[in-house]
Amino acid sequence: MTELLLNPEKLLIARYELMSVVGENAQVQESDISKLPLLQAVIKEIFRNHPPVPLLIPRKTKINVEVNGRRICPCMPLASRMLHLTVATLVRNFDWKFENGIKSEEVDMKEMFGLSLHKEIPLKAIPLDFMLKIKWISLFNDDFKMY
Ligand code: HEM
Repeated sequence: MTELLLNPEKLLIARYELMSVVGENAQVQESDISKLPLLQAVIKEIFRNHPPVPLLIPRKTKINVEVNGRRICPCMPLASRMLHLTVATLVRNFDWKFENGIKSEEVDMKEMFGLSLHKEIPLKAIPLDFMLKIKWISLFNDDFKMY
């Protein structure tokens, strides 16, 4: 979300995709995710720039075993769906601004290790009702379309 707040034009494009695919009055469902390539690309790019698990978890077997293949995260399908759904819902429903009037150039992007790699200073953002703004603009401009 921090990256999207720092790149508001990308957030608008992602919202435009959501509105066009899901509909202006509907909320995003799990079944929509496969039809949202731009949202998928945004999340992929953010994972590329901020890998949450940059070092693999060390492990050692207690007994000799024959290794048949590489194990990966068993919960990736669940995590991926939840992530896409959460980001899509936040992007679809709100404009965002940083707390306390913080400007983009003042945002601290330092990361630190915990269970995973995460922001040292958590994002604090305020949701804004962008639909209200659109309703106001459309009151004065009949030709106004969503974007
Ligand atoms: C976006 C979220 C997630 C990311 C990026 C992620 C990433 C990873 C990575 C990189 C590994 C190590 C794989 C390896 O050593 O080859 C791993 C392992 C694992 N993850 Fe996740 N994970 C996520 C979410 C979850 C969730 C939600 C759960 C459980 C509900 C989960 C459960 C596990 C378990 C149990 C392992 C150990 C698997 C094994 O050693 O066989 N992960 N994950």
